[in-house]
Amino acid sequence: MPSDLARRAGQHFARLATNLVVRTPVLWPLLRPLMRAMFDRLAPQWDSSREPGHLAAYDAGLAAVDGPARALDVGTGTGLGAFAIATRFPEAEVTGVDLSGDMVVEARRNTPEELAGRVRFEQADAARLPFPDGSFDLVALANMIPFFDELERVLAPGGALLVAFTWGPETPIFVPFERLRAELEARGFSQFAEFAAGTGSALLARKPRPD
Ligand SMILES: C[S@@+](CC[C@H](N)C(=O)[O-])C[C@H]1O[C@@H](n2cnc3c(N)ncnc32)[C@H](O)[C@@H]1O
Repeated sequence: MPSDLARRAGQHFARLATNLVVRTPVLWPLLRPLMRAMFDRLAPQWDSSREPGHLAAYDAGLAAVDGPARALDVGTGTGLGAFAIATRFPEAEVTGVDLSGDMVVEARRNTPEELAGRVRFEQADAARLPFPDGSFDLVALANMIPFFDELERVLAPGGALLVAFTWGPETPIFVPFERLRAELEARGFSQFAEFAAGTGSALLARKPRPD
């Protein structure tokens, strides 16, 4: 298959999978092997296919966050989001997780020496994160399907959740902000703020503290 056709087929699949999983999360186990295989295949060329400003909206959201001690980048790919967090917040310990083992290999290889002591990467499924409840003060996602129950679970009370999309609604993996807000409000999140930067958009929300 010509590579442009393969790329467009992959984008359609990513959009379809996102729409299905956000509405019906129980379908995820059926889609997971296909998603992992697709991103394993894309991993070696992921960085060269990215455009400048890829994380402009993600960065704009980070600028509004109080410095976290522990942060998680979910669906980190080759690690760019984890590096952005670690660079902005020099006190933060940052974990990046990805379903694709080949993405994790690239992320580890990309880690700048000066961040290596504070940034680590693990292969993990966002639908079942290998972390105890309340492990992180900041959980961030760029261009990644949100698994709302797990995001809420691993975030500490009072912690910040950031969801960003590089091309706004044109992003293959995209969830409309009304839908994000509704899912998060149903889980008690508040203090929503929206950001637009470059081609991208982001939503920031805060998990409530118990009374
Ligand atoms: C579109 S890429 C975005 C990568 C990176 N955040 C970026 O913006 O460059 C989506 C990433 O999410 C990962 N992913 C998809 N589903 C996942 C899941 N359930 N758990 C963890 N990672 C997942 C893919 O392997 C892929 O690396």
